[in-house]
Amino acid sequence: MYPFFAQFVFPIALIAVLTLTSAKPVAFRHANVLSRAGDIKEAYDYVVVGAGTSGLTVADRLTEDGKHTVLVIEYCHLISDEVIEAGGGRFFADPGIYYNITSTPQPELNNRTQGVILGCCVGGSSAVNGMVFVRGTKTEYDGWAELGGPDSTWDWDGVLPYFRKASHFTHPEETLAEAFNITWNPDSWGQDPDTHLYATFPTFQNTAIIPMYEAMKKMPGIEIPIDGASGDNGLFWHPASIDPEKFWRSYARTAHYDNISRENFEVLTRHKVRRVLFDGTTATGVEFVPRDGDDTTPLSVKANKEVILSAGAIHTPQILQKSGIGPKSLLEQADIPVVVDIPGVGQNFQDHLYLYVGYELPSPEPRRLTSILVTNGTPPAPNVTLPGDPSTITGPNIGAWIGLPVVTENYEDIASRYAAQDPAAYLPADTHPSVLAGYEAFQSLHADFLRSKNVNMLWIVVGGLNGAVVMNMHIVSHGTVNINTTDIEAEPVVDYRALSNPIDLELMVENILFYRRYMMESEDFKPYGPNETSPGLEVEGEALEEWIRETLIPTNYHPVGTAGKKPLEMGGVVDEELLLHGVERLRVVDASVMPLLPGANTQQPCYMIAEKVG
Ligand SMILES: Cc1cc2nc3c(=O)[nH]c(=O)nc-3n(C[C@H](O)[C@H](O)[C@H](O)COP(=O)(O)OP(=O)(O)OC[C@H]3O[C@@H](n4cnc5c(N)ncnc54)[C@H](O)[C@@H]3O)c2cc1C
Ligand SMILES: *[C@@H]1O[C@H](CO)[C@@H](O)[C@H](O)[C@H]1NC(C)=O
Ligand SMILES: *[C@@H]1O[C@H](CO)[C@@H](O)[C@H](O)[C@H]1NC(C)=O
Ligand SMILES: *[C@@H]1O[C@H](CO)[C@@H](O)[C@H](O)[C@H]1NC(C)=O
Ligand SMILES: *[C@@H]1O[C@H](CO)[C@@H](O)[C@H](O)[C@H]1NC(C)=O
Ligand SMILES: *[C@@H]1O[C@H](CO)[C@@H](O)[C@H](O)[C@H]1NC(C)=O
Ligand SMILES: *[C@@H]1O[C@H](CO)[C@@H](O)[C@H](O)[C@H]1NC(C)=O
Ligand SMILES: *[C@@H]1O[C@H](CO)[C@@H](O)[C@H](O)[C@H]1NC(C)=O
Repeated sequence: MYPFFAQFVFPIALIAVLTLTSAKPVAFRHANVLSRAGDIKEAYDYVVVGAGTSGLTVADRLTEDGKHTVLVIEYCHLISDEVIEAGGGRFFADPGIYYNITSTPQPELNNRTQGVILGCCVGGSSAVNGMVFVRGTKTEYDGWAELGGPDSTWDWDGVLPYFRKASHFTHPEETLAEAFNITWNPDSWGQDPDTHLYATFPTFQNTAIIPMYEAMKKMPGIEIPIDGASGDNGLFWHPASIDPEKFWRSYARTAHYDNISRENFEVLTRHKVRRVLFDGTTATGVEFVPRDGDDTTPLSVKANKEVILSAGAIHTPQILQKSGIGPKSLLEQADIPVVVDIPGVGQNFQDHLYLYVGYELPSPEPRRLTSILVTNGTPPAPNVTLPGDPSTITGPNIGAWIGLPVVTENYEDIASRYAAQDPAAYLPADTHPSVLAGYEAFQSLHADFLRSKNVNMLWIVVGGLNGAVVMNMHIVSHGTVNINTTDIEAEPVVDYRALSNPIDLELMVENILFYRRYMMESEDFKPYGPNETSPGLEVEGEALEEWIRETLIPTNYHPVGTAGKKPLEMGGVVDEELLLHGVERLRVVDASVMPLLPGANTQQPCYMIAEKVG
């Protein structure tokens, strides 16, 4: 199946194609792109691996003042401007621009495998993502700091300035804001003229959202914070990562690459970094090979100051392990000489879980189709005439992001049973003691998370579809991303270990039951005779659990945690500055460093991470 948000926006993308095909391609100027290794210099101050979301952001910031030279090496290519334009920036049908790695069979999902989808182009996953632009809560980032070790600056107050710096906010139009009660806190958002990543509202919204919003507001415990950017959760509107003028995708390439012409900023495309080179435990450069042609003689480039790995949470641990940095026992199985034994590399792997619950409201009245997103899953929209253009919508702009005490009265029971678990009970048998110690700390924090209203345990996209995506925003089953020990050049072995801890299944059941109560018991929906079409109300108890095993998607394409910013003795890989423990001149800057999932889609946190160290 296609990634959820791509599927969600597909009809809009079609309309955009119709309206945009006559427009002329725009000529972009951009960083110096090299596609032949013969063109590069022998040494740079910084060599960045991966021209993705975080890699381009950090490279842009490092070259801004002209004092340092940076080479970025990217496995994939620069996609044409026409592709962005033709898709309205919202949908890419080109299979060449994403990876699709097959996960290991997941025993708790009836041995199903999962396609691990990641962006593969200049821009990385920010080029193919659903453009949902959210952060997570204050409590969640304070949790990052709690796991991060003494005096960690990765708490809410420590990260907020970099969230502000990372994007340029455009508020919604007044008529739209009034009709939908879209509010925002200007202090939580930045408008730095040097930041070209845009957080923008579309000019239009589907008025069928209004009754869905009104009903959600009445659910017990639901609060409406001023926005989702100020650290509190509830029912809120959020922008998308789109350009405020063209309503095209705004992503790492348009923000940190296009329109930048600097002698000291070069990008080499279609070359794969195989490993980091060392002098003792000091990183000195990288070894890489061309992707095209028959000549696979390894090439190398020196980094005078640092090597920065920004290959994403799936490939960064692979490159580290191939370079001799990782769990000693794993490296020995693959005959890789150990440079530094860091047991946490590739462990603590986490992603969001979701599935789709279907509803229809088959009332006798016909629906008023205000936009292509309206289906028979929403009550009639109020008769509000709005200006604006429906094709500026890229995906959901509103959701309920809520804590377990709002989802279920059983939260304390679940939290105390989780807290009482033996931390080793659901981890792989050979888990290293330091990784286990890290899990124990996570478990204790997470038990508090289960009792907190201000942690996003559930995300429901509100309105617009006949049913909803129900998503677990935090999981307790941690997976692994390890090299394939029989072929280290093959894609890494991705094991979500989905639902390996039964608490995750319980949480999904509670999340579905919350959504059921919302649809079936809300007075606002009753006149329309709501009907659950999938799985159906008769599916309860064990049958519901079996339905979850059969339909659950163990990823929302938000892999994190495989090079966690935690102390070494707690299974951590990088320190406060994101430098590797026990290694000199090697840093990781991407989704791998998150010590635990934010209760949010992960692009904004990635930009924040790159700004904080950039
Ligand atoms: C389909 C999809 C939908 C998503 N939807 C949303 C959303 O709506 N909202 C949201 O906030 N987030 C979303 N995300 C998540 C978000 O986009 C990612 O978390 C974020 O972009 C990851 O950034 P990164 O810097 O860690 O890695 P990436 O941006 O993935 O960059 C890694 C780069 O490294 C390159 N690379 C890897 N290995 C090598 C190598 N050996 N040599 C050279 N280069 C290499 C890759 O080709 C890639 O370009 C989505 C992601 C996907 C895939
Ligand atoms: C990923 O690969 C799987 C298995 O080959 C396939 O079923 C799925 O459709 C692919 N996904 C995408 C988005 O191409
Ligand atoms: C999954 O695969 C394993 C190993 O092949 C097997 O033992 C198990 O019975 C399978 N589970 C299901 C539900 O098919
Ligand atoms: C509008 O949003 C604010 C939060 O900014 C909330 O307090 C208020 O209750 C909302 N009003 C309505 C009518 O929904
Ligand atoms: C690049 O700069 C030009 C001129 O300022 C502008 O018109 C264009 O939109 C910019 N492109 C991007 C991708 O920002
Ligand atoms: C909506 O309101 C407009 C203006 O008040 C009116 O002309 C129109 O008939 C109404 N449409 C419906 C479907 O009630
Ligand atoms: C490891 O790589 C080999 C060779 O490419 C492949 O046949 C095998 O399936 C891979 N193993 C896993 C677990 O992915
Ligand atoms: C509810 O939906 C199911 C599945 O689509 C359908 O079989 C059933 O007839 C519907 N029930 C009602 C009362 O509409």
